Amino acid sequence: MSATTARPDAAGESFADLPPSPAVWCSGLRKRYRRRTAVDGVSFTVERGEVMGLLGPNGAGKTSVIKMLLGLVRPDAGEVLLLGRPGSDPFARTRVGYLPELFRYQPWLTAAEVLKLHVRLAGATVPDERRREYLAMVGLADRAGDRVGGFSKGMQQRLGLAVALVAGPELVILDEPTSALDPLGRADVRDLLLSLKDRGVAVLLNSHLIGEVERVCDRVVILDKGRVAASGTLAELLGQRELRLRLDEVGPAAAARLAAAGQVTSGGDAYTVALQDDAVIPDIVADLVGLGVRVHAVEPGRISLEERLLDILRTGHSEEHR
Ligand SMILES: Nc1ncnc2c1ncn2[C@@H]1O[C@H](COP(=O)(O)OP(=O)(O)OP(=O)(O)O)[C@@H](O)[C@H]1O
Ligand SMILES: [Mg+2]
Repeated sequence: MSATTARPDAAGESFADLPPSPAVWCSGLRKRYRRRTAVDGVSFTVERGEVMGLLGPNGAGKTSVIKMLLGLVRPDAGEVLLLGRPGSDPFARTRVGYLPELFRYQPWLTAAEVLKLHVRLAGATVPDERRREYLAMVGLADRAGDRVGGFSKGMQQRLGLAVALVAGPELVILDEPTSALDPLGRADVRDLLLSLKDRGVAVLLNSHLIGEVERVCDRVVILDKGRVAASGTLAELLGQRELRLRLDEVGPAAAARLAAAGQVTSGGDAYTVALQDDAVIPDIVADLVGLGVRVHAVEPGRISLEERLLDILRTGHSEEHR
């Protein structure tokens, strides 16, 4: 570098002291298509290394938000930074992997050619060996030389995942990555997402398969009619754990023991205790048995993300964790 770098270097040092910018930052995103408002004031952040789920019913605005993040759709209002830079910045192109919701690759290309083309379009360089590795990772090793025009939906989606991941992105945005996959394929994607998380790659994921989201995501944002209906960590959204018991011969001492563990609701032989922590369950059971209670069933539980999502969407209540 030449002498002109002296001052930028000094500035670089002070930038280096700053915490890394979030993987995704967006604020006040808004989009109308003719008279229909698709996205209405959406703001959220995805931290580095975090896996975040974007949930909501059909037409909620999830894909529109994702396209605005990537600069594929121009927002009417709002701002976006990907890895600290505007999404349209060429820097973002090479460091952000994207799997679109609906896509068709050029049917006359082979899987290996599609991958090569997309690496080139992204302005990245990836050795042949690594491209082969990624095709194998998504289960297409023996189809690398076949034209994608003859691929099944699920095989096209697998190829899309390889395209999104092959250049080693710092942020991956996946719009319904498992919608066409068989159960084994879904499990593979789940493992893949967890391995990305281990490597510190940030993931923004949109899926209707709530169970999967619940398994891999640290945080979720729930969109409804273009707005954020709720957001937070899974623990925040799902709240407390509970312990469901079926008990006989509960005397006053046993009732007091249950009440000491958490708020109790009961009817007949069914008792539900709200708990902060599952670790206390063996102690509760041991104490109840010691107090002469007959314990028929012990079932630790937690409200599922699916139940919570339906609850939020049906009641239309804005959640406290915004
Ligand atoms: N290109 C477009 N032209 C007109 N309207 C559009 C366009 N793209 C999206 N919309 C509208 O914006 C709204 C949000 O659509 P979007 O695709 O973002 O929803 P989504 O949450 O991704 O839904 P899904 O779960 O079905 O994929 C819908 O009402 C849709 O009709
Ligand atoms: Mg969509």
